[in-house]
Amino acid sequence: MPTPETDLLQSWHANAQSWIAAIRTGSIESRQQVTDQAILLAVLGRQPERVLDLGCGEGWLLRALAERGIKAVGVDGDPTLVKAARAAGTSPVHLASYQALAEATVDIGNNYELICANFALLHQDIIPLLCALHALLIPGGALAIQTLHPWTAACGNYQDGWRQETFAGFQGQWQPMPWYMRTLSSWLNALDMADFRLVSLQEPQHPQSAVPQSLLMVFQTR
Ligand SMILES: C[S@@+](CC[C@H](N)C(=O)[O-])C[C@H]1O[C@@H](n2cnc3c(N)ncnc32)[C@H](O)[C@@H]1O
Repeated sequence: MPTPETDLLQSWHANAQSWIAAIRTGSIESRQQVTDQAILLAVLGRQPERVLDLGCGEGWLLRALAERGIKAVGVDGDPTLVKAARAAGTSPVHLASYQALAEATVDIGNNYELICANFALLHQDIIPLLCALHALLIPGGALAIQTLHPWTAACGNYQDGWRQETFAGFQGQWQPMPWYMRTLSSWLNALDMADFRLVSLQEPQHPQSAVPQSLLMVFQTR
C-alpha cells in the first residue's frame, strides 16, 4: 500500500536522471549561489576526519569533501544516484533506504565524526532514523542538517504537514515529490527527542534576496 514515505523514495527513482543533470549542470541557482558553500563550510568548520553523507544523491558533496582530504562515505536509497556517485568519485557509497538504516539492517560503518544531511531529510517520522544516526557517531559527534527554510517553504501555512514539490521551473521530466514540511520548533523537538543538542543555527542568505535560502542547523550528541 503506497504511503507518502514510499511515494517520496519512488519519486527519486523516477527523478534520478533529471536530478543528476540538474546538479551537474549547476542549474539550481540557490545551490550555486548560497547553499552548497554553506553546507561545505559547516562541515569543514568542524574539521572532521570521517563524514557520512546521508541521502548523498549523485555525490557532489562527497567529491567536494574528498578533494579536501576528508574521508567521506555516502548512503542513498536510489540505485541510479548511488551508481552515479560511485562512478564520479572515490568515496564508498552504500545503497540503503532510511527505513533500513533506522532498523539497523544494513552496515554502513560507524564512529563517524560528523553526519550531514543536505536537503535529504524529507519524510515525516524522522526520529527512528535520527536515533540510528546517533548510534553511528562518536561521542560528541555532530549532525549537520540543511533544509528548506520553513518560513519561506510554508507559503503562508506555517504548520507541519505533507506538501508536494512539483519541480516547476526545472528542466526535464519530473515526477512530483511528496515532502514533509516541518516548523522550526518541530525540527528542534525531533532532534531533542533523538538526544541531539543544537550547537549552531544559520539562515544562509543571498545579498540580493529578501528571504533566506535555507535553514542550516548543527547538532551534537549529548
Ligand atoms: C534533494 S536530494 C539531495 C541529494 C544530496 N544530498 C544533494 O545535496 O544533492 C534528496 C536525496 O534523499 C534521498 N532519499 C530520500 N528519501 C530517502 C529514503 N527514504 N531512503 C534513502 N534515501 C532517500 C534521495 O534518493 C535523494 O538522493
